[in-house]
Amino acid sequence: MTSLRQSGIDQLLLTGDISNSKDLLPRLGDLHSRLAIPIRFVLGNHDYYGSSIEEVRSATNHFCEKREGLSYLGSCSPIPLTDRTVLIGCDGWADARFGTYAKTTVRLNDFLQIENLRGLDHKSLGLRLQELGDKEADSLQKHLQAVLPRFRHLIILTHVPPFEEACWYQGKAGHPDWSPFFSCWATGNLLRKTFMKYPRHHATVLCGHTHYAGVARILPNLIVRTGRAIYRQPEIQDPIIEIW
Ligand SMILES: [Fe+2]
Repeated sequence: MTSLRQSGIDQLLLTGDISNSKDLLPRLGDLHSRLAIPIRFVLGNHDYYGSSIEEVRSATNHFCEKREGLSYLGSCSPIPLTDRTVLIGCDGWADARFGTYAKTTVRLNDFLQIENLRGLDHKSLGLRLQELGDKEADSLQKHLQAVLPRFRHLIILTHVPPFEEACWYQGKAGHPDWSPFFSCWATGNLLRKTFMKYPRHHATVLCGHTHYAGVARILPNLIVRTGRAIYRQPEIQDPIIEIW
């Protein structure tokens, strides 16, 4: 909190995994009241631990309704930053499509801690993860349709890297066993198609989830910055984002 205050930032962007379902809203409320600057965020898989996706999102929306400047980008309207730059977001969901889901032996705490994923066999879990990824892409598509006619530069917050090239682990991007759970094909497919279709628009995607930092240039006009994370040691990421 002290380093955030001393940094002189005028708004805070959080790309998810803020806490767990029990502590999420108290922590957001504490940050919001103590920093007294706009806080824009998406949620990550950890934020749903101990509950369901629907319940956490509903409670988060209700919580933000009463607090000006605290914005859950998964649900709220796009936020203009300048005449040309707009901020949008979606949580994203690792959708078991990158890597080799059928063969992986990786199992995450998500599958015990999040009600929507509990008690499923491997095949059913894979289908559920795909369904969640598709819903995130639908949500992102609605935001994109709303802002593309008016804004040329989009800053997009999401939790899960939307490309395997942005799924960093110790300096390398992508791993067949881990990529199914650390990248979202559905949102990435949408972003790639969209920014190929709109070559004069630019998008900067900010994400997290993998705990390792890296920058991936997917297209000349589409760049993905993945932030670093260490448990219980939040830090300000590379603040250099071009705002037009
Ligand atoms: Fe995560």
